[in-house]
Amino acid sequence: MKIKKAVFPVAGLGTRFIPATKAMAKEMLPVVDKPIIQYAVEEAFAAGIEQIIFVTGRGKKALEDHFDRSFEIEHSLMEKGKEDLLKQIQELVPKTGTIIYTRQNQPLGLGHAIWCARDIVGDEPFAVLLADDLIQTDKPVLAEMVKKFDRLRASMAAVMEIEKNQTDKYGILDAQQVEEDIFRIDDMVEKPKPEDAPSNLAIVGRYILTPRIFQHLGKEKKGAGGEIQLTDAMKALLKEQPIFGYKFHGKRFDCGDKVGFQMANLAFALERPDMRDRLINFIKEIQKDV
Ligand code: G1P
Repeated sequence: MKIKKAVFPVAGLGTRFIPATKAMAKEMLPVVDKPIIQYAVEEAFAAGIEQIIFVTGRGKKALEDHFDRSFEIEHSLMEKGKEDLLKQIQELVPKTGTIIYTRQNQPLGLGHAIWCARDIVGDEPFAVLLADDLIQTDKPVLAEMVKKFDRLRASMAAVMEIEKNQTDKYGILDAQQVEEDIFRIDDMVEKPKPEDAPSNLAIVGRYILTPRIFQHLGKEKKGAGGEIQLTDAMKALLKEQPIFGYKFHGKRFDCGDKVGFQMANLAFALERPDMRDRLINFIKEIQKDV
């Protein structure tokens, strides 16, 4: 029961980033110099994932091209002797056949996007990564979850504590802490108002799911925001199988939000020795004006 497949729902239109996303996939927006989606794909491979399943939509050509070879660029870098860059762009292209694309042809929600991958995933546990959730950590989150899965043999979601007034942005858990970083989930609710939220423990976009989830997603029941929600299918799955929350160590950035995206850029740039000093000087300088 090794986790070999990872589903990436990438069909969203990215309306929050218009005009940047008018003609370009939002997953291609760069954090420092790497598209958001590449961070998530690298995290999946680091966790031993062998097959990437992109659930795409219209206007995602740049994403497909990004993970394919570019003979013009490779040729030009070779001629100029830019070995480092050449290696970089060659290495980011997964072995041919390891990426599979399917389309979500209607924007019916996250649960529906995952359901679109049911025949490709088949009857085995799989991972789901929401690329918008970018996590800065020493231990990549999915690899940690795969280790936990080997022991717990059950579905799980990454979780973090949030401010109580933010519950309407997340799937929120009713859960018991059973180990230092593991919670056993009793119930879950998608985007509750703070007064209705069972806790401040929120789901972050990393999941490992048993294939039984597809039975529940297939019912296509609409939930919060009129969308088919993954959280609702997980809630139904809870009646049949245990589900755990893994409280990861690290800092999560919501790259689907303009402020979160800027914070991610700053945080990741500050990790780069070639950028750090100049940025810190700049931050100090502009702080004087605010
Ligand atoms: C989705 C999930 C939600 C989860 C969140 C994490 O919501 O539906 O349960 O907490 O991702 O980022 P979205 O942000 O796509 O609205």
